[in-house]
Amino acid sequence: MGDLMTMAVQPRHLKLGLAGQHKNWVYAKFELNELRNAFARIARTLPTYGAKDTATMVTAMISQQIVTLQEAIAAGDAKQFKRSYEQLTDACNSCHVALNHPTLVMKVPDQNTFPNQDFWPKKKP
Ligand code: HEC
Repeated sequence: MGDLMTMAVQPRHLKLGLAGQHKNWVYAKFELNELRNAFARIARTLPTYGAKDTATMVTAMISQQIVTLQEAIAAGDAKQFKRSYEQLTDACNSCHVALNHPTLVMKVPDQNTFPNQDFWPKKKP
């Protein structure tokens, strides 16, 4: 679970945050979908974690926050994105607490560690 989180979820969460900070809604939509797929892949790969059903936990802990963020992206609303992204990040941490890993604390990114990727929206031709 830790490997999949580090490889599939953590970079998507970061890139999604950067996409929103750059108001790049087309890319944010893509990246949110990647994040949603990453959770689905984790649930398929590891159907249970401890005694808990992974898919049920993902749905209970974070799917509502993903929908809310999707609405903010569709509306192209930077304020709503910021709020929803914070709620998404809180949901990451709630699940870590619920699954006995309170030391795994995620936060809204304050740095871009992908210097080889352009996060600005493409200009319309
Ligand atoms: C369904 C519950 C759940 C949700 C939702 C969840 N996580 Fe996790 N995450 C875990 C569990 C459980 C672990 C510990 C895995 C292990 O035992 O190796 C973990 C581990 C991690 C790790 C590895 C920590 C490390 O330093 O090695 C990262 C990074 C991480 N999660 C990021 C996130 C992010 C970002 C989100 C939100 C977008 C998120 N997680 C949402 C359950 C969850």
